[in-house]
Amino acid sequence: MKHEVFEKNIPLLFIGVILVTAIGALVEIVPLFYIDSTIEKVEGVRPYTPLELKGRDIYVREGCYNCHSQMIRPFRDEVERYGHYSLAAESMYDHPFQWGSKRTGPDLARVGGKYSNLWHQTHMRSPRTVVPESIMPNYPWLEKNTLNYGDIGVRLAVMQKLGVPYSDVAVAEAKADLEAQANPTADATGLRARYGAKVGQENFGGQPGRITELDALIAYLQMLGRQVDFATYKAQAR
Ligand code: HEC
Repeated sequence: MKHEVFEKNIPLLFIGVILVTAIGALVEIVPLFYIDSTIEKVEGVRPYTPLELKGRDIYVREGCYNCHSQMIRPFRDEVERYGHYSLAAESMYDHPFQWGSKRTGPDLARVGGKYSNLWHQTHMRSPRTVVPESIMPNYPWLEKNTLNYGDIGVRLAVMQKLGVPYSDVAVAEAKADLEAQANPTADATGLRARYGAKVGQENFGGQPGRITELDALIAYLQMLGRQVDFATYKAQAR
């Protein structure tokens, strides 16, 4: 019995255990160093605009993730209900990710474009006005609170540090880009040059001349799941 050697010699057993667990750990951990090459690049996926990023911060602040997931699993019932299953690339710029773990309400990964801004405004103020059986809480303060975005440049700079490919110009112009996206009549040349032609430039919150927290949140919700064009998307062969 060769393992008798280990069983009778505690220091040797100890060294053996360390050796074996180290191999296991290496096999699990080393691939993560190459994570950049394990997430496929998908056309259309871009960093969030400053307004969307602010909206995302509000989403996190209000704890929406406690009731809503943002990850469509590749099962038939989910794909038929919510649309194409979520791709890893679609949350690659999320710090932290918003996959969630509970669905008291529906998945929101592809809620963008499903409803009008007006529907969202009404729904956030009082969900039961548009969905009588809803158990979602009212969030009436979002349309009252003026959006505080003095720190938006710093927010983008932090994301840049975490690996989100914002250019230095994008950081410098964050405030201007935020204001341009919330105002349909503003000059959005810079915004579009940095974030693409598909970026929505609307009065999301419905109060002209004012940028509220609701503007940011709805800008974020309306973008969810719409970056990738699934009419042309083809999964890479593995
Ligand atoms: C207590 C759980 C709960 C919380 C917290 C919650 N929701 Fe909901 N949400 C629901 C339920 C239930 C529904 C389905 C009924 C409805 O449409 O109101 C829903 C529906 C929605 C819908 C419509 C989805 C669809 O596809 O029809 C959106 C958008 C939404 N919620 C956004 C949010 C946002 C943004 C927050 C945070 C500010 C939030 N929810 C917080 C429970 C919740």
